[in-house]
Parts: sequence; structure tokens; C-alpha cells
Amino acid sequence: MLFKRVKSLDQILATAEKKGLTRQLGPIQLTLLGIGAIIGTGIFVLTAEAGQKAGPGMMISFVIAAVICALAALAYAELASMVPVAGSAYTYTYGVLGESVAWVVGWALVLEYTIAASTVCVGWSGYVNGLLAHGGFGLPEFLRTGPMDGGTFNLLAFLIGLAITFLLVIGTSKSAKVNAFLVLIKVAALTLFIFVALPAVKDPNFKPFVPNGWGSPMGGIGVLGAAASIFFAYVGFDAVSTAAEETKNPNRNIPIGLIGSLGVCTVYYLLVSYAAVGSVGAQPMLGPDGLALQPGTPAMAAACHASQALVCSKEALAHVMRLLNHNQLGNLIGFAASIALPSVILTMTYGQTRIFFTMARDGLLPSSLAKIHPRFHTPYVITIITGVFVSLFGAMFPVGALADVTNSGTLFAFMMVSLGVLILRVKQPDRPRSFRTPMAWVVCPLAMFGCLLLFFNLSLKTIIIFFSWAAVGLVIYYLYGYRKSHLANGTEPD
Ligand code: ALA
Repeated sequence: MLFKRVKSLDQILATAEKKGLTRQLGPIQLTLLGIGAIIGTGIFVLTAEAGQKAGPGMMISFVIAAVICALAALAYAELASMVPVAGSAYTYTYGVLGESVAWVVGWALVLEYTIAASTVCVGWSGYVNGLLAHGGFGLPEFLRTGPMDGGTFNLLAFLIGLAITFLLVIGTSKSAKVNAFLVLIKVAALTLFIFVALPAVKDPNFKPFVPNGWGSPMGGIGVLGAAASIFFAYVGFDAVSTAAEETKNPNRNIPIGLIGSLGVCTVYYLLVSYAAVGSVGAQPMLGPDGLALQPGTPAMAAACHASQALVCSKEALAHVMRLLNHNQLGNLIGFAASIALPSVILTMTYGQTRIFFTMARDGLLPSSLAKIHPRFHTPYVITIITGVFVSLFGAMFPVGALADVTNSGTLFAFMMVSLGVLILRVKQPDRPRSFRTPMAWVVCPLAMFGCLLLFFNLSLKTIIIFFSWAAVGLVIYYLYGYRKSHLANGTEPD
């Protein structure tokens, strides 16, 4: 029963034509969409967390995560170019492994997109709260962070989530222009950082290089633990493939958007992490037992009290500038992050709405969710619902925990996509592929292995949350989607 109800790829393409979105995005907009989704809280905020987990060895973590993402991107690009419709890994799985597995993947993508958007809302609020406090307009403490972070309600994270939802409701093309502008600011800030910090790099700052070792399964620490967390910094490139249905000439442009945006970001991350570690050092805070403390815990907060260490900072890159005696540049980078991070929230929320849209179109979610606004031509119902949840999660949970949960869903989805490529190579070898994964029988198994490796280097708590979420999803599927599925009932809408 598990692998029943496989939707034929021709059927998927036909459904998309019937109830389609307007094709308006080109290769440059797509690459910008990708960069807009990728560069964000990962590099601007979680660099400190990676330092705590791996020390200077976080540079290896960045490389490991990049290699695994690149492998997965090559798999994504093949499926995205074969099935250029909205829905990303969910749609591909529907066409390869069948409805119930597709549902689980779609359900895991909620972790990827919705929770990632919430994570960035929290990262953004950290920078803006800092700037406001600096300017003498700080919010009361209880409105600066969620209940697990010592506050009550993260007001700014909540408000930015709602603002982005509004942008998405009024239309993709307007939002894409805003996105392109913010991407420019983000890239400029990272470039400035690299130019200023690179000359200050000193050899001793790299020693000891891997103070916490490589890490152990479900331990969430060491070089692999940091790679599993910093993987968040690369999450988002597949948002490009979720826009396939709104892309002109998707067979050519989707692979360009995917690989192009991932490549640009990887180069930036390696330069930024090298410059940050080499200029100010990144040794972890240790507990009384001599072991590194887990980030995001009261013990870590106590150890960090009044510390200037990079691993303690909530605004890592601005902090490096200040430690290098460039206070104004620190503020400038903080300001750039504050105005640019919303582009990530926008792209992740956008990706989520398109996945829900596709699931509703397939009958697995109520069709009223897929309603398109008569004036703005956007799926406004699902956009508003998603946006409210993004905002609420952002208001209530801490940044590191949200990032790790995002990663669990993403790693699962990437694994399924890599598997899907291989299955389709066997089952439908002659179907046209405008992009073929090079050496697929090496690349896809390596991508799957890499995703598994990172998944099991997340903390035990994160892994439990992932499997609980999947279990809840399956119950909902058997109560609703299983019976209402258009594929099962032969009720594809006209
Ligand atoms: N990769 C995105 C970020 O780092 C999600 O914010």
C-alpha cells in the first residue's frame, strides 16, 4: 500500500497546465530568488553557534554542508527540469514513490519552509532589537524574545512575518523586485565584511583547530554537529525549483537558478567564515567538566555573560567588526542584515505557499486553500494561513532550535529527491531530461549518505521532533487526504 497511487509525470504536467500560475520569472530573477533564500540567518547569526560547536573547525563544517548541498542540488536540478511544476520535492515524490510518501515529504517540507521562515524572523529581530536598543529606543525585555529565551513574546519577529505575508498576497512580481534589491544589500554587506576582516587574519587564531573533535551521533556537537546546524545557511536553494511553474523556459532556467545561486553563496560563506575565525578566533565556551557547552542553554548564557567571544554573539558579523575596532562598520553590517534578512523570510514563505497550493490542487488539502485572488492572482488563502504560523513560531521559539528543526525536514526531503532521480533513471530512462545529474549513480547515493550523516548529527531532541511531526502528518493523511485525493477518486479539477 505504501508505494501505491503513483501519479504519472504526464498527469502532473497536465494538472499544472489546467490550473496554472503565470510564467513570468527568468534566469536572473531565479538566481536572485535563490540567493535571497540562501544568504540569511545562517551566515549572519548562526556562525557563532557553529563556532561553539566546532571551534575554527567550523570552516570544515561549512565545506561539508556545501558539498552535501551541491550533490543534492544536482539531483534537484534533474527532477526540477523534468517536472517543472510547483511543489518541489513533494511533486517529484508523487510521481515516483506515490501519494503517501509524497505526503510525508510535503509534510516535512513544512518544517523546511515554514520553520526556516520563522528562524529568520527571529534572527532578524535579534539584529533590529540590538539596533533599537543602541539608539535608545529598545523594546521592553519581555517583548524581545520568546518564552524559552527569557522573554514572553518576540514582537518584532511576529510583525516582520506579517509584513512579508502582506507582500506575498499582493503579488509575486512586486515581491521579486523588493527581493532583488535586498539581495544586493546582503551581498554588499558580506563583501565589505570580507574586505575588512581578511587582512586581520592571524595564524594563532586557528589553534586548536577542532577543539570538540568530529562529534558523535545525535550529539549535536563537534565538526559534524556544526555541519548539521550550519546546513541551515544553505537551505533555500531549492526554493528556486518550487517556482518552476512560474518560470519562463523552466527546462533551461531552473538548473541555472539552482546551481548558480548555490555556487555564489558557497564562495561567500567560505570567505566569511575564514575571515571571521582568522581575525578574532572562535574557541568554544567550556563547562566545569572541560567540555564545550551546548548553545542555546542557560549554562551557555551564564558562561557568555559579559564575554566578548565570537561564539557568544547574537550578531556575529557585526561583532567581529567591533572587535576589530570598526564600530561604525559593525553598525553598518547590522543595519544591512536588518533590512536584508526579510528577503529570506519572503522566499521561504513563498515556497511554502506554493507547496501547500500544489497539495490542495491534488486534493490532499481542502481545495478552498488553493483559491487564487481575483485581483492579485496569488494563492492568498494559503499565503495568509502560512504567514500567521510563520509569525507565531517566530514569536515563541529560539533561533537555534528552529534552525535545527528546519534542517531535519530539509535533509529528509533532499534524501527522497536523490532517491527519486535514481528510480526514474531505471523506470523511465527515455523521458527527456534537459538537465541530467552528472554521474548520477555516484552523486545521488553520496547525496543520500551525506543527508543521513547530517540528519543523525542533529541533537536527539531535534530528531524526536522530526519523527513526531511525521507521525502526526500520517494520521492527518489517512483521515483526510487518503479519502479526498483527486488521483484516487479520479476527480482532477478542470
Ligand atoms: N539559508 C537561509 C538562512 O541562512 C535559510 O537564513
